[in-house]
Order: sequence, then C-alpha cells, then structure tokens
Amino acid sequence: MPPTARPVVLDVDTGVDDACALLLAATHAGLDLRAVTCVGGNAPVDDVVRNTLTVLQAAGRSDVPVARGAERPLLEHPRDARHVHGEDGMGDIGWPAPTLRPDPRHAVELLRDTCIAAAEAGETVTLVTTAPLTNIALLLRTYPAAARGIAEVVFMGGAVQTGNATASAEFNVFHDPEAAAIVLDAAAQLAIPVTMYGLDVFYDPVVATAEADELVAVGGRGAAELAGRLIQFQCERFGRDAATIGDAGAVCAVLEPEGLTTQVLPIRVELAGHWSRGRTIVDRRDWSGDLSHDPHGEPPVRVRVALGVDHQRYSALWRDTILGSGGTS
Ligand code: BDR
Ligand code: CA
Repeated sequence: MPPTARPVVLDVDTGVDDACALLLAATHAGLDLRAVTCVGGNAPVDDVVRNTLTVLQAAGRSDVPVARGAERPLLEHPRDARHVHGEDGMGDIGWPAPTLRPDPRHAVELLRDTCIAAAEAGETVTLVTTAPLTNIALLLRTYPAAARGIAEVVFMGGAVQTGNATASAEFNVFHDPEAAAIVLDAAAQLAIPVTMYGLDVFYDPVVATAEADELVAVGGRGAAELAGRLIQFQCERFGRDAATIGDAGAVCAVLEPEGLTTQVLPIRVELAGHWSRGRTIVDRRDWSGDLSHDPHGEPPVRVRVALGVDHQRYSALWRDTILGSGGTS
C-alpha cells in the first residue's frame, strides 16, 4: 500500500453496483481500504455479507475485515431490491461461495474501532456509503467520538430531481429515511463534511458490453472477470448495450473529485410525506428574499451535492483500474 493511499471504509448492501464499488476500492493503489461494513438493503444482510466476501476474495483482499450490521431500517419495513439485483443480490451469476469469513464484531463496532484507531494514529478515513444509512446513523449517535477519525462522508443516495424507488425518493434514502435524516443532522453537529452522490449523476458513468466482454476474457475468477460478469448481468436484465457502474461512481468521486460538478446546498429529508417520504429536498433557490421569508426556515444542514459528472472519466477510471489489477484472486 503506497504511504499516500487514502484510508477509506465502505458501508454497502452488495448489490451488483456495490460490488462494482468494492472492486474499485479494493484494487486502486490510491485507496487504503481499511474495512467494509454491511447493512440490509438491496438484499437481506446475510446475503450482503456473503456477496461482499465474494467480491473481496475475487479481488484478493482477504486482509480487509468485513462486518455484519443492521438487518432492518430504524423504523421502516425492509424492502429489498432483488428485482434489480437478482435473487442472490449479486446478479445470480453462479460465482463460487467465498471461503472468507466475516469479522466477529458488529458493523457499528468495526466502524467505531476503525475510525478511532485512525484518529489515534493522527489519520482520518473517508467513509463511502453505498447503501441505506442505518449503520452510520447508529454509529454517529452511539459513538460520536468516532467523528474525530472521519475526514468526510461520501454517500450514494438521494436525488435533486427524480427518484427511483418511488417517483420522489431514491432507494437508499427511501429504505431508511430516518437514518438518512440522522446522518445529515449528526454530520452537521459533528462538523463532518458530506458529499451527496445522488441519482442526478448515478446513471451516467456506463460500461459497454464489449468492454465487459474484455474484462470477462481476463478470466481466472479475479476482479476483472467478476466486474465484467456484473456489467453483463445488468445489460441482459435491462436489455441495454451498456450498464451503469452505479455505486462505484461514489468511489470515483473520492479518487477524482474534480470529475464532479458540485454545489454546497441546504438539504432536508422528507419524513412525513406519504407520496414523497424519503425524498431529499435540495434547496436550489438563489434569492435571499425567498429563503428568509420561507416559513420552514433555512435547513440547518448543507451538503456538497453532485449535479454533474464527467462520466467518461469515471467509466475509464473504473474499467482501467480493474483491468490493470490482474486477473486472478
Ligand atoms: C442505490 O440503490 C441500490 O439499488 C443501488 O445499489 C444503489 O446504492 C440506487 O438507488
Ligand atoms: Ca447499494
């Protein structure tokens, strides 16, 4: 690991595109992947743990601790997304089960230990979340001292414009809206900078079937073959000749933040609405008269919101890193 590699932790609900994110974080020399924590979301949490271990094994990263976290949202019923990600949550591609085993700690404890160890060593970690924010809400409310070891939270979730789980809400925030609201509130209180990598950019970085075929051809059941198989699955499922790298874009945003167009904006999570529950309400008004006369008052939380992405740059970063990482696990 180069001494300049940036320490990162991923919180995931693996998930086809979480797998894409893990493959990039596990193979890029500029990142020091310290831990991965799992939460129920796209699939039940035990499937998420298995899928996550499968990915890390393919990437040859048995050194990275993986912990099981929250089974269900704080208040909502769990609603998985197997209609998107397949019955096993990772594309039903028939990849062999992992021999790696999870860390005995709960995800929240692994997050706490990793952040506090970083702080004690004079470092900070970047927390990249590609899943419902249940584990992170529990972490920041239970162990706020962990914030000393967190440089930034980059979360895939939310949308300025259109949702996906509902017309209003993006899946990760929809799945556990209270957790998302808690994380934004706690991050503001604890002075943790937050970047929202939402649906406004999520679908743009794509990989074509021909490129996926090239990855698969590397073979050896390593990172490249797995990456290609995951893209192929999505292309087949959605009948397209290219597929998004999805959550992996949030990892690209850590590596190459200049590939994003962002604005720091006030944000709230809708918790009360029926049709709009789980929506991220991002305030893009620019006239102070409107803001100061708004009966709701200005939201206390401001985050750096991704409004545009250099999608070719992120696609190439993902593909080239994984292709260059070698073929075997
Ligand atoms: C998000 O929800 C999940 O299906 C994906 O893994 C991604 O994190 C997109 O709304
Ligand atoms: Ca995800």
